[in-house]
Amino acid sequence: MATSKAVPAAKTRPLNPTQPTVTPTFMVGPIPVYGDIILSPMAGFSDKPYRLICREYGSAMSYTEFVSADGILHGNDRYRQMLDFDPSERPMVFQIFGSDETTIEEAAHKIERLGPDIIDINMGCSAKKVSRRGSGAGLLKDPAKIGRIFTRLTATISLPITGKIRLGWDDNSLNYLEVVKVLEDSGASLIAVHGRTREQAYRGQANWDAIAKIKQAVNIPVIGNGDVTCAADIDRIKQHTGCDAVMIGRAAIGNPWIFQRKDIEQVTLAEKVQLIYRHLDLMLDFYGEERGLMLFRKHVVKYVRGLSHIARVKTKLVTCTRPEEFIALMNEYEADAERRAAQFAQEPVSNSTRVQHDYVPA
Ligand SMILES: Cc1cc2nc3c(=O)[nH]c(=O)nc-3n(C[C@H](O)[C@H](O)[C@H](O)COP(=O)(O)O)c2cc1C
Repeated sequence: MATSKAVPAAKTRPLNPTQPTVTPTFMVGPIPVYGDIILSPMAGFSDKPYRLICREYGSAMSYTEFVSADGILHGNDRYRQMLDFDPSERPMVFQIFGSDETTIEEAAHKIERLGPDIIDINMGCSAKKVSRRGSGAGLLKDPAKIGRIFTRLTATISLPITGKIRLGWDDNSLNYLEVVKVLEDSGASLIAVHGRTREQAYRGQANWDAIAKIKQAVNIPVIGNGDVTCAADIDRIKQHTGCDAVMIGRAAIGNPWIFQRKDIEQVTLAEKVQLIYRHLDLMLDFYGEERGLMLFRKHVVKYVRGLSHIARVKTKLVTCTRPEEFIALMNEYEADAERRAAQFAQEPVSNSTRVQHDYVPA
């Protein structure tokens, strides 16, 4: 491990009052993590507004979406917004991707100055334009290179360096045990594992047995990931794999309640609407009105999924161009839903009265 710098901010009390405050659930090098459920890094979703919400609901640490090492060094300043964070999010992980060892090292040095607690290397992205160029899951094809990258980073960066991997390139190259040993031997402080291959992308079932083998093989913390879709799955994957924590991606979009181990069916309409307004507020603040509302649309579809009589309103919600319009539509939907609920509550009474009446002999 690299020399540890004091990072006092990460040692502040955890946000979620249900989480233990004294004993960390696990350590990432010198950084304590309180809690065992974490929002996955997700391009286009795990931005500052949504990460903040998830941290408030109980996600134990924050990962940025993956940011190109090349873009950090040679691109515009867009990466700064992707790496913007609130101190309350700590422990804060910056995730980067790249294929060139020197580029990754230089990018890591550049972003270290922005004050994250941890730097993570993405070795899991399956997108062709990333993985076929040797970045993301493409790195899994070259464990020796992974070793060189981590050795350089852990020797020269004064923060814990972690990695997020898949199980291998495809079924014929399931080299996860080799990769995790290389990671541990070259100083990685934690490994997050999405239990699929690059070829699988998101198809098939995540292989939790493989995650269990990884946990057995290394002495650094392991985060299990893949196919956690409800609150019960959190304990299922933990029991199955023995992993230190669980990362949740798709099932957390539109459902931060999962970090409270609460299933979406238990969430009331009022709670959803309240959160939609709060999330919208954060989006408008962070991105500005036009972009904020536009980027919010993909969250909206997930928040309103499964709500009754939503189809007609949904189209309007995701096409309106002003926040006031959005709020008016949402208010209208909520009022309609309340009316329907009130009507429904009365219906059995009036029906049964009618039925009785029908059978009263003339
Ligand atoms: C829209 C989307 C974007 C993603 N972006 C990233 C990313 O930037 N970095 C990363 O390591 N993984 C990324 N992933 C993968 C997730 O972090 C996670 O490993 C994967 O979705 C499996 O977990 P799940 O079954 O809980 O969704 C992304 C996944 C999705 C669906």
